[in-house]
Amino acid sequence: MKFTLLKEVQTVSKQSKEEIRRVTFGKFGNEEDIYEEQEHSDEETPKVHQDKKPSLVQKFKDTFVKKQEEETPELWTGQTSVLDIIAPSSIDNGSRDYVVVDGIYHSYLYVAGYGYNTRNEMAWLSPLVEAGDNIGISFTFRRMPREKILSRISQKTMLNRSRMRDVGDTRQDFEELDDAISSGYYLKEGMNRAAQDFYYMSTVIEVTAYDEEDLEQRVADVMTLCSSMSMVCKRADYKHEQCFLSSLPVLSVEPDIERKARRNILTDSLAASFPFSSFEVYDEGGIFLGLNKYNRSVAILDIFDSDKYANANGCIFGTTGAGKTFLLQNMALRFRMQGTQVFIIAPVKGHEYIDACEAIGGKYIKIAPSSKDCINIMEIRKTSLSTDCEIKEDTRNDSILAEKMQSLMIFFSLIKNDITQDELNLMDSAVIRTYETFGITFDNKSLFEEDGSFKKMPTLKDLYEELLSKEDTKKLALMIEKFAVGSLASFGRETNVDLTNKYIVLDMTEMTDALKPIGMFMALEFVWDKAKESRIQKKVIFLDELWTLMGCGSGTRNLAGSYVNEIFRLIRGFGGSAIQATQDLSSSFSSDAGKYSKEILNLSSFKVILHLEEDEAFTAQKYLSLSDEETMQIIRNGRGEALLCANKNKVCIDIKASPLMYNLITTKRTDLEKRRKK
Ligand SMILES: Nc1ncnc2c1ncn2[C@@H]1O[C@H](COP(=O)(O)OP(=O)(O)OP(=O)(O)O)[C@@H](O)[C@H]1O
Ligand SMILES: [Mg+2]
Repeated sequence: MKFTLLKEVQTVSKQSKEEIRRVTFGKFGNEEDIYEEQEHSDEETPKVHQDKKPSLVQKFKDTFVKKQEEETPELWTGQTSVLDIIAPSSIDNGSRDYVVVDGIYHSYLYVAGYGYNTRNEMAWLSPLVEAGDNIGISFTFRRMPREKILSRISQKTMLNRSRMRDVGDTRQDFEELDDAISSGYYLKEGMNRAAQDFYYMSTVIEVTAYDEEDLEQRVADVMTLCSSMSMVCKRADYKHEQCFLSSLPVLSVEPDIERKARRNILTDSLAASFPFSSFEVYDEGGIFLGLNKYNRSVAILDIFDSDKYANANGCIFGTTGAGKTFLLQNMALRFRMQGTQVFIIAPVKGHEYIDACEAIGGKYIKIAPSSKDCINIMEIRKTSLSTDCEIKEDTRNDSILAEKMQSLMIFFSLIKNDITQDELNLMDSAVIRTYETFGITFDNKSLFEEDGSFKKMPTLKDLYEELLSKEDTKKLALMIEKFAVGSLASFGRETNVDLTNKYIVLDMTEMTDALKPIGMFMALEFVWDKAKESRIQKKVIFLDELWTLMGCGSGTRNLAGSYVNEIFRLIRGFGGSAIQATQDLSSSFSSDAGKYSKEILNLSSFKVILHLEEDEAFTAQKYLSLSDEETMQIIRNGRGEALLCANKNKVCIDIKASPLMYNLITTKRTDLEKRRKK
């Protein structure tokens, strides 16, 4: 009698257990049952179950503490061990809602086994991972043996079908049974036909905070996030310690939590659950630009990676004060730190570059009529005409002087727009004579002294005197008089600045609009000479506020535009990169120079768009093929926030500088005021 009663109680308990689980686990309840049955049969008492699955705390003790005790020689007992170092110094698990580990509140939630969506898109778990700081996610996947699972599913489906026959379609659980059967078919088909594997997955969410109030707020946020994703998450009341252990990276989940959070999935769903989906820019060996605005991953760009990017050129757009110069200098400093040669051409506000330039040991050169710095336009700096001699033995020995003469002729036509061919011819012979007086001829050997150094080079003043000495060229002397003895005499002297520095800033702020093309020519001629020295050495030319140069001259006379264009077109061949920043998008695309702006844009593989006003943003949308959302993002961007377009990747980033760099670069009035007060 006693025995029968016991049997009866057991049957009722099993039935109600099954019922509860079926209701709780819904559609996937069947598979849960399979697992339960498989893990411990009817005959097994809870004790046996307990033995089979010891608590996680016990497991940890067995694995780590016992092992350590066994392995530690007697002499060493009592000494500080690795375990002592990595283990927290205190854990308070007296609360229902959290555990406090080393003063930090940890609260845990798990996604209930029945709480997932049946159908999901790719990377459907990424919102959880991107939920922000202080929220950690721990996913556990366990592959189950196919054969066992398959036979269980078959059995269970068969059972359900026979049950279904007894159940009228008006009964409450009819749909549930129907669902369970179709799930069984789905799993069987996936495993048999598509050769997928069967996994159990569990998700534990960790929320941390320094105090209880923050913790509760964050837990509520996570719950809202989960319900917005149609997921049911439960707080692990009284089980936070076990969850803490379960979320350690040791691939062990507390059995009780696992049972509640367990969900079956097949291989394709497992692949789709990979949570890191957001586009990111991470090129090994590149320079740090900032943090991804959405998932806080770092944005590291290696523009010199020719496998990824067709060229190393870039464009930066942004309204005034958006942070163009800030980004540009950040990049320049980081390139320099990597040993890359950096040139910065600053047509306006060159003073913004002085501090950083001095701090990194660079050379700041001011190209201006009033400046003491002088770059001799007639100086020959190249040691070889052939850049390829670095790579292969080169026997060509073309005349370096002849090449220099060509660029001098461009310079003369810049000074006098309507220069005739006759005048150019006269100039040509005068230039040759001037070089000859310094012992320099078309023979490259004549360029060098016996000790291998360059000979003294003529200046525009010498050319001026040469022109004056002949009757037929006297008139031409007038043309360069300004540069030889007049107000622009500083351009006609010998070079007196060190041009071998790896960080060179060329400031042209004080050049008037009329003089800018000349200043630009001098700067670019020098930069080009340096750039062409090597095809192997990396170099970057930064052009800030390019729009101010593009406006110089118009139509075919827009020489500044065509120089810049040439740089963007050719620099890749010399292992270099050209990066420009522009403020005024609409006018730089619509004026005469628009043609150059568009070409430059097409020649750039990466673009950074900082904040733009609405009008400008729509112009950017047109030329950069941005989506509406991306355009709105540009309008919404705050200072230092940007849309980075590198190849097909478009990522929103927060541009970051270290405090040291920030202090060197900032031009904010308030920062400068603080500095003055110090
Ligand atoms: N990413 C950033 N982080 C912190 N501060 C920034 C950032 N970007 C810009 N700033 C601040 O904004 C100031 C103005 O930025 P910046 O000089 O780069 O503007 P700009 O776009 O070059 O403007 P303009 O076209 O007028 O030259 C900087 O001096 C700096 O103090
Ligand atoms: Mg600026």
